[in-house]
Formats: sequence, C-alpha cells, structure tokens
Amino acid sequence: MTKLWVGTNWKMHKSIKEGMKYADQLGRIVSELNADIEVFIIPSYTALWPIKNQIAHAPIRLGAQNMHWADSGAYTGEVSPLMLKEIGLEIVELGHSERRQYYNETDERINKKVLAALKHGLRPLICIGETRDQKHHSVAEEILSIQLKIALSGVGMADAERLLIAYEPVWAIGEEGVPADKRHVSRMHAHIRAILEQLLGREAGRSLPILYGGSVNRANSLEYLSLENVNGLFIGRAAWDIQSFGQILMDIDNFCRSGSKALRQ
Ligand code: PGA
Repeated sequence: MTKLWVGTNWKMHKSIKEGMKYADQLGRIVSELNADIEVFIIPSYTALWPIKNQIAHAPIRLGAQNMHWADSGAYTGEVSPLMLKEIGLEIVELGHSERRQYYNETDERINKKVLAALKHGLRPLICIGETRDQKHHSVAEEILSIQLKIALSGVGMADAERLLIAYEPVWAIGEEGVPADKRHVSRMHAHIRAILEQLLGREAGRSLPILYGGSVNRANSLEYLSLENVNGLFIGRAAWDIQSFGQILMDIDNFCRSGSKALRQ
C-alpha cells in the first residue's frame, strides 16, 4: 500500500532550541498516529544534527533543504551529499521555488543534485511548479514536463522508489500565495503521474509519491489529500507551529482510518 507523506520545510526559521522543542513534541504526536503516514521535517542546517539525535527513536524522517552535487571541493558555503549522509539524513529537498527564484537553481543543476543524492543513498524530494505567468499563458503542463524530464534525466527505474515529487505552484506558496483550486491540482497531479510513467515505466511511475504544497492548512488539507494522485502534503507556514501541524496530522490520521483516502495498492 502506498503510504502518505506529510512533512514541512522550515525554510530559514527556528533556532536550534526551538527546533528541538518542536521535534520533541512532534515525536509524541506521531507516536499516537495509527495510519501509515510518513512524517518528515526539513529544518535549517544548523539544527539538523541536534534534531537528528533528539528524534533518534521517533518515526520522523529528517531532511535538508538543499545540497551541492559534488562530494567535496572548493565550493564555499555549500554542503555536500557526504556531509548529509554523515549525520544520517534521509531526505534532501531539491529545487524549491525559492531556490529557483533567488539562487539561480536551474533544472540542469537540480538534475546533477538528484543524481548525486541517489548515488549516495539519499532520497531526493524534487519540487516542481509553474509561475503565475506560466499558468496564465496556459503552459503549466509544459513547464512541469520540462522540469521533470530534466530533473530525472539519467534516473533509472530502480531508483524510482527513492524519489519523492512535490508539486508546488509558485503562485500558491507563501504569504502572497493564493490557495490552488482542487481541479487545477487534480489536473496537474494527473499530468505529473503520466510523465512519471512515461519516464520511469508504468509500474515505477505509478507508485511514486506526488505531494502537494502551497498554502496548505488545516482547512484545506483533506480536500487536497482526497484527490487522486495526491499522495501527501508538503506544508510551510501551517506546520511551523507544532499545535497546528499536530492538528493537521491527526485530521489526516482520522481521514485515513475512516477509509476516506483510497490508498493505492
Ligand atoms: P506555504 O509554503 O505552505 O507556507 O505556502 C509551502 C512551501 O514553500 O513549500
């Protein structure tokens, strides 16, 4: 059965102390969940190591917000896959729209990072999404195809089970974001699924989790999750407060147990 993946990227928020308190509370919340939900958090680099130790026994997966593709080298300010491996991380988020927008993160660079992450046994969480203008010009599908085809270039079927994809329309993210309507999300996730099947083969492409992100909150989380091909949620603001994230997780837990989410076999 395909599990749901629900997680949060903290962006440039939370001190080590705040992060540890949050992780501790999250550990307790997650231990009460009954459904098969993979919960993950993506703190800042400085908080990763202490949080890794803090949640050593909790079923919480941990990720980094970015990495370089090289094992080591003269790349001041960068973090390598080996460094992430060294602290026992599992997930690395790649291609978030803020990295594309502010740090010149291209599809080609994301591809190098995806290949490096896979080579080192990390799980790439690849973020894709169209801008407001691209949606306006009705080229969202084309943009998603390009982003996926380049990001996954050279990725074999055997690696597919370690990939996570997050569809995050740029216009839906952050303070200025407008929550996406369900029909749009549904259409884009179906398109992403079709591209994944085309690139990775039907079997691998079908089972790969596609998360939705962008202004997800307690009021809309179940609506998004009830859509076909939405296999999880990637949450920013609404998950930075542990009570709020806890509520969302408990809602999802009840939702799954009530059989409302037909998890694919
Ligand atoms: P948001 O952020 O939930 O605050 O819109 C989503 C994201 O950036 O992944």
